[in-house]
Amino acid sequence: MQTRVVVITGASTGIGAATAELFGRKGWAVVLAARSQDKLQKLVTEMTAAGSKALAVPTDVTVKSDIENLVQKTVAEFGRIDVLVNNAGVGISGTLETVDLEKLEYVFALNVFAPLALLQAVVPVMKAQGDGVIVNVSSIDEALPAVYTAGYGATKAALGYLSNSAAIELAAYGIDVIKVLPGNTESEFEHNKLPAGQSMSKDAILAKVGLFKPVESEAAAQSIWDAVMKRRLQTYVTAQDELLCKALRLSPVASVKLSKMVMRRYMSPDNTPAQASVQQDLAKFGSILAGLGVLLCGGLGWLVFRRLSGNGRHCA
Ligand SMILES: NC(=O)c1ccc[n+]([C@@H]2O[C@H](COP(=O)([O-])OP(=O)(O)OC[C@H]3O[C@@H](n4cnc5c(N)ncnc54)[C@H](OP(=O)(O)O)[C@@H]3O)[C@@H](O)[C@H]2O)c1
Repeated sequence: MQTRVVVITGASTGIGAATAELFGRKGWAVVLAARSQDKLQKLVTEMTAAGSKALAVPTDVTVKSDIENLVQKTVAEFGRIDVLVNNAGVGISGTLETVDLEKLEYVFALNVFAPLALLQAVVPVMKAQGDGVIVNVSSIDEALPAVYTAGYGATKAALGYLSNSAAIELAAYGIDVIKVLPGNTESEFEHNKLPAGQSMSKDAILAKVGLFKPVESEAAAQSIWDAVMKRRLQTYVTAQDELLCKALRLSPVASVKLSKMVMRRYMSPDNTPAQASVQQDLAKFGSILAGLGVLLCGGLGWLVFRRLSGNGRHCA
């Protein structure tokens, strides 16, 4: 059988690097694209030593000629492109009131226009094959009315919209366009996030509302693999991410109202002390539940006792 070929952008670190290694282990030919030539080369050397087929193509995905070069080199080396993983991306912090618009424009160029340009570059190859999968790595932020990083969420919401529309437009050619929505994942993402306005650090936000522990990049890579194998339109990495996004999508109005409440209660702006923390509230909620449990058990015990003693009287 012909070796299948995957092109992965943002493959020098994090989710992209983990995805490259996973596809390599599964016997695919892997083309790794990112700007950091040294990191790509190191990965390719390791993957090749482990018996995988891998090619590094230094690429800035915001540069049109780099995208053309990536597709040409892949086809010249391997003759086809079965899967494109549009993974390269960057975060940006800053309230909407303060966010630097030039930096936000760049994040739109990288997170939205680059995946679209890559889609346009690989579609002719996939159409000629009559088959292909394009994976857009979005984020659970596309469904959340996030604060302090709303510019980033807006890029992922735009990417999600384009992804779904492309899925419809390209279905007739045997091309599936699917998306994977990671949540909090261990990678270089926080380190690379562009500071672009007034914000809170992710650690500070998570200390107040963080319930979900980050997952390893390998978990996101596994979800990308599963999504490709099943050609699933939309894939979450964890069940809790899926539950949260589905619940919030049930009513966008309710989700904004809930987020306002969360902001007021847990994340007061300008670093004024918040009313409470999620952990404190959960502890209170737990105590109330435990109290109710004790009352319920006591009530049940009393009913059973009454019944047994009543039965005793009838027998007498
Ligand atoms: N980590 C999370 O919590 C999380 C959650 C949801 C979604 N995501 C999404 O997952 C994807 C991967 O992020 P990650 O967490 O693995 O972060 P990461 O470790 O920072 O990886 C980002 C990758 O994108 C590449 N990149 C950045 N600018 C580029 C450009 N102009 N051209 C080509 N490549 C570029 C980087 O490589 P170079 O610097 O070498 O170019 C790097 O390989 C992103 O789309 C991100 O939005 C991440």
